[in-house]
Amino acid sequence: MFAGIAGRYDLLNHLLSGNVDKSWRRLVARTLRPSLVEGARVLDVACGTGDLSLVLEGAGEARVVGLDFCRPMLEIARRKAASGARPVPFVEGDALRLPFADCSFDVVTIAFGLRNLASVEDGLRELRRILRPAGRIAVLEFSDPVVPGFRALFRFYFTRVLPRIGGLVSGSRGAYEYLPDSVSKFPDQKRLAALMREAGFEEVAYKNLTGGIAALHTGARTP
Ligand SMILES: C[S@@+](CC[C@H](N)C(=O)[O-])C[C@H]1O[C@@H](n2cnc3c(N)ncnc32)[C@H](O)[C@@H]1O
Repeated sequence: MFAGIAGRYDLLNHLLSGNVDKSWRRLVARTLRPSLVEGARVLDVACGTGDLSLVLEGAGEARVVGLDFCRPMLEIARRKAASGARPVPFVEGDALRLPFADCSFDVVTIAFGLRNLASVEDGLRELRRILRPAGRIAVLEFSDPVVPGFRALFRFYFTRVLPRIGGLVSGSRGAYEYLPDSVSKFPDQKRLAALMREAGFEEVAYKNLTGGIAALHTGARTP
């Protein structure tokens, strides 16, 4: 599905969100800034076309690696990275079987990716595995809008308007029907925080973004 929309993915992200997606990714980098120090290693899982990986690479001294299992998305990420001062390596791999040793990263991020995994619980455990003890995790994902009137309005936009525009621009209406459908099945803010704790993260906290359309969950690996 992602291979089919790769060429229009960035354009549609920015168009359908009115560019708000960019500020969400910048917030991830600002939140993680204290960990993005020289010598630190960051893995951006389900990196897609690399937008978060590149923001993280530019936000500090840490070295960032992006990983995704969709080659056409990675090809776009590599093209975007090629012009940067420190090119980000983009690796093909499965988020549920990461090709890295235990405890090999200081920070792991996943933006709009956890929802797509066959198992959220297994995904969180695998993200924890490659983190060193006390390493930080950040999960950026669509969530449950918290303001009642806005919630109804957003639902209408997300389920009725967005699939039409997404379908017209990308040629794949199915991919943009899958988006609201997968979000409706994804755990809300509190449940995701609980799943993170169950997977072995502590200091779990979340911040609602744009009225809860998205949420940024953070935590640290228990020892
Ligand atoms: C909605 S995109 C998010 C891309 C990027 N993180 C962003 O913020 O725009 C979801 C990405 O998850 C990737 N993905 C889904 N399941 C995966 C898996 N099991 N392993 C690796 N990547 C996966 C897809 O290929 C796709 O690029």
